[in-house]
Amino acid sequence: MERKIFETHAHYEDKQFDEDRETLLKSLPENGIDVVVNVSSSLETAKETLKLTRQYDFIYGAIGVHPEAASELTEERFQWLSERMSEEKIVAVGEIGLDYYWKEPEPAVQKIWFERQIALAREKKLPMIIHSRDAAQDTYDILKAGHGEEAGGVIHCFSYAREMAKKFLDMGFYLGIGGVVTFKNSKKLKDVVAYAPLERLLLETDCPYMAPVPNRGKRNSSLNLIYVAREIAALKGIETEEVIWKTAENARKMYQLQ
Ligand code: NI
Repeated sequence: MERKIFETHAHYEDKQFDEDRETLLKSLPENGIDVVVNVSSSLETAKETLKLTRQYDFIYGAIGVHPEAASELTEERFQWLSERMSEEKIVAVGEIGLDYYWKEPEPAVQKIWFERQIALAREKKLPMIIHSRDAAQDTYDILKAGHGEEAGGVIHCFSYAREMAKKFLDMGFYLGIGGVVTFKNSKKLKDVVAYAPLERLLLETDCPYMAPVPNRGKRNSSLNLIYVAREIAALKGIETEEVIWKTAENARKMYQLQ
């Protein structure tokens, strides 16, 4: 059976898609994309994600609050998030994590809501989509202390070196691979992709951001995932078809869509 591309991480609610969202989304199935997981980063985008999952058969959703938006969370809003997790097409908690690049909100605030959302994922038995930037060790330590491996999930847009990849793989996490792997200067990520087992890699765009070569710098969409799959195949010395097939199987397993 032919298996199409599984897009594990997109932000189609983003305003960059306002002009042609419907046309673009409708064109995905006929262009080799069979499932899309739309990922929230705030309470507002969680609502938009829920809407998209109701509008399109092939779109599933992840809801959660990104570290950069962590200060918008309160007990009451957390409760709202928690209740939304039982909606039929919600397949993950995310994106959640730590981002020390901007240090805003301060790490202490990011950590509190990261820990709470890890506990939520365990309670709801849903995998997590982890955003981790310039915060490798804290991300690892908090996941470890919070028994994040019980929920599992993906370290999305993986950006650390092989040693850190090994630690997250040993904990049972998948690594999300996107457009960056096609960039000439992304030696570190190319090395991680060559090293990590294909059974633990997922294809993701993070669109509208991170478009791969040859469309680097332009608005990204799931239509570009073929370039990511080709690069992974080249790095591993295997066929692109195998990358597409296996990463789709991995995604179905992680999101419990078997
Ligand atoms: Ni994202």
